[in-house]
Amino acid sequence: MTYQNYSLKQLQQIDAAHHLHPFTDHKELREAGSRIITHANGPFIYDSEGTEILDGMAGLWCVNIGYGRDELAEAAYAQMKELPYYNSFFKCSTPTPVLLSKKLAEIAPKHVNQVFYGSSGSEANDTALRLVRHYWVLEGKPEKNRIISRKMAYHGSTVAGTSLGGMDAMHKQLGGAVPNIVHVMMPYAYELALPGESDHDFGLRAAKAVEDAILEAGADKVAAFIGEPVMGAGGVKIPPVSYWPEVQRICRKYDVLLMLDEVITGYGRTGEWFASQTLGIEPDTITTAKALTSGYQPLSALLVGDRIAATLVGKGGEFNHGYTYSGHPVACAVALKNLEIIEREGLVDRVRNDTGPYFAKALQERIAGHDLVGEVRSIGLMGAIEIVKDKATKERFLPSGSAAVTVRDHAIAQGMMLRATGDTMILSPPLIWTRDTIDMACERISKALDLAQADLRKR
Ligand SMILES: Cc1ncc(COP(=O)(O)O)c(C=O)c1O
Repeated sequence: MTYQNYSLKQLQQIDAAHHLHPFTDHKELREAGSRIITHANGPFIYDSEGTEILDGMAGLWCVNIGYGRDELAEAAYAQMKELPYYNSFFKCSTPTPVLLSKKLAEIAPKHVNQVFYGSSGSEANDTALRLVRHYWVLEGKPEKNRIISRKMAYHGSTVAGTSLGGMDAMHKQLGGAVPNIVHVMMPYAYELALPGESDHDFGLRAAKAVEDAILEAGADKVAAFIGEPVMGAGGVKIPPVSYWPEVQRICRKYDVLLMLDEVITGYGRTGEWFASQTLGIEPDTITTAKALTSGYQPLSALLVGDRIAATLVGKGGEFNHGYTYSGHPVACAVALKNLEIIEREGLVDRVRNDTGPYFAKALQERIAGHDLVGEVRSIGLMGAIEIVKDKATKERFLPSGSAAVTVRDHAIAQGMMLRATGDTMILSPPLIWTRDTIDMACERISKALDLAQADLRKR
């Protein structure tokens, strides 16, 4: 690597001159200059100035086994030397996607036994959309092709991902979505429950919105419902426990397929391999990516349930879909090693039995009481902190989102990487976090909240 020959200023200048970043205001970025992360180890990332930052976001919901794992680098190196690439089109395969598919079928819910690979969560959702529509065509019901999604859902940034997602700002720039996708209310009790409405009742009302959308179109026109088990980028919105069983009941009643997007909840995040297992959901497709390789290689896997697979295989005919890098041998070798490490170190059980409950208690006892905090919530090692001006009325600071950015900036200055989304701070740390790391995070977040409060008061 030769980046060491460049100063921070030089790297920032070159970045500004040539590099367009995802989800970024480039005018703003060029004025501020990028933070350049140069290396990482365990739970910490380091910038070009040597600043150590505790990574509360596992990169971007990815690095479940933490940074600096030689075994993954060695798995990639060995595979690259033996067979760096071959495609899985034209009745060919390579060993690592074969073995990875077997492993995924073992850890996925029982009725889920097939895998379709891509390189990103967005691609896997494109595949899911194509596949469920193809399924209904094969079943002789081509008109059953509407997909129901939710407002504020995030399903990626390709045209299909953006269309499936429910982000207004993304839709505005799309200039024409994939047809026949509708969005219903999200199960976000903190802002949407009516005064006096219990969590349970709110969950049922939010699920009823799915039923209403099915009835409005006619069940014979609806292919599937898609949802993140816990909405992530939309603000770690954990639905009431009444929500998912009711959505599942409704989908079954009207013969609507259930597509779960587990791009951020897959591979241990909620204390089971998949959130569908934590929440008792039996989906027809499960979109996964990110922590499949702990982010060490780009790889996604759409896990496909037996119902769809039986039709696809049983009826035959080509599914006209696939990517050059579907089942990439190096990415799959890295995924296999990553899953082996998660298993060997008992990280899923640790989240379920130890760090997940400790994280929930720490947020409640040490963060929830702060004047700026309206609510904390978590599931496994995934959490949210609502930033408010007034705890009692839930009034937010204006302009919307500005207070959370203030908290985030102070958190980073305190050595704590957090993400701000709207007025919510979100956390999704590596699963290698221990009780000590959680304590360290709470200390830094508390300090950031104090400093942000002082700033916000001054404004
Ligand atoms: C739930 C969900 N689905 C899909 C995606 C898109 O994944 P990718 O950025 O790998 O395309 C993301 C990304 O954060 C996500 O959170």
